[in-house]
Amino acid sequence: MNIQSQLLMNMTQGMFHLYLLYATQNAGIYNTLQQGPKTIEQLSQACHIEKNLLKRLVRPVMAIGCMEERDGKLALTEMGEVLCDNTKDSLAGFLRFNVKIATAYWSKMDAALAHGAMPFEELEKQGFFDAQMEEHAKFDDFNEMMRDSSKNIDLTDYLQSRTKVPDTICDIGGGAGDIISKFLEFYPEAKGIVRDLSVAEEACKENLASRGITKDRFQFQVADFFREVPPEAELYILSRILHDWDDEKCQIILDHIGQAMGEQSQLLVIEKMIPKEMDARHMHMYMNDLYMWAVCGGKERTEEEFDGLFAKAGLKIKDIYPVTDEEYVIEIEKDNLEYGEL
Ligand SMILES: C[S@@+](CC[C@H](N)C(=O)[O-])C[C@H]1O[C@@H](n2cnc3c(N)ncnc32)[C@H](O)[C@@H]1O
Repeated sequence: MNIQSQLLMNMTQGMFHLYLLYATQNAGIYNTLQQGPKTIEQLSQACHIEKNLLKRLVRPVMAIGCMEERDGKLALTEMGEVLCDNTKDSLAGFLRFNVKIATAYWSKMDAALAHGAMPFEELEKQGFFDAQMEEHAKFDDFNEMMRDSSKNIDLTDYLQSRTKVPDTICDIGGGAGDIISKFLEFYPEAKGIVRDLSVAEEACKENLASRGITKDRFQFQVADFFREVPPEAELYILSRILHDWDDEKCQIILDHIGQAMGEQSQLLVIEKMIPKEMDARHMHMYMNDLYMWAVCGGKERTEEEFDGLFAKAGLKIKDIYPVTDEEYVIEIEKDNLEYGEL
């Protein structure tokens, strides 16, 4: 088989790789090896998998690069560490979410294309976040994964680069408060508001309290960003929200924030951005974009696309600050143009 066919063969079996990683993760193989290398007998005993079957499961996992043999024992590689539950950038929650929820949406992509619909609509009779309101526990893995990535995003350099010190910060769709807490810790005089659906309230209050952010500095407001204009604040945060929605829905959210913003207010949008030039190196971003479409009808955007959205809401980009390889803080302010002039 030539190399191209080999590559395609691997891709057509990609789903099986996913299930293999999930099954071995679920059986506790990576978490067990995190405690130290094990013989196949020790691993078989710890994970309750028959020894000969375990050997067969381990072979492709080693070929993927998640495990290696060390002094006659099986050991985790750096890549395998990522599949453990308690590593810093763990993908275990993402793996679980993909297997239990997201693959079902992706599997409807052909039907969605045939019907001019969105994949999740083929399966659910409601949107992703409405489904969460109905059956919250089903989305625990997803929420855990999102929280891990919000907790781990390092905003220190960005915060240090800022010159304006806000006294009120309002995080729209702030979830469990993992992003606003970074701001409130950095600005000890500032007060904060998280606005989100009622499902987020308990986790958010617990999280802020556990960080020592007292009730006099923080409140949670149950609010729907499609229906309500937020209160006036000096600084607004919109983190990983716009990529959940199509352009029309984003327009409503941004219009509401624009209406609340005073002349001196600033909006910080934290999002990934698709690079302008098409390049195979950005494969992950292109897939992420389709992932958003499949799961909730959203999209990843280029800078130009963001610019267009903000302009329609009477807002403009002031600065863009990279915080990871692909994620940015986009600083936005009110455009002095009146709506009618656009
Ligand atoms: C991907 S999470 C982002 C959470 C947080 N901003 C962060 O970066 O960690 C999306 C958030 O949007 C919230 N959300 C979804 N629909 C909403 C609505 N109609 N009104 C307010 N919040 C909503 C969800 O409850 C969830 O907390």
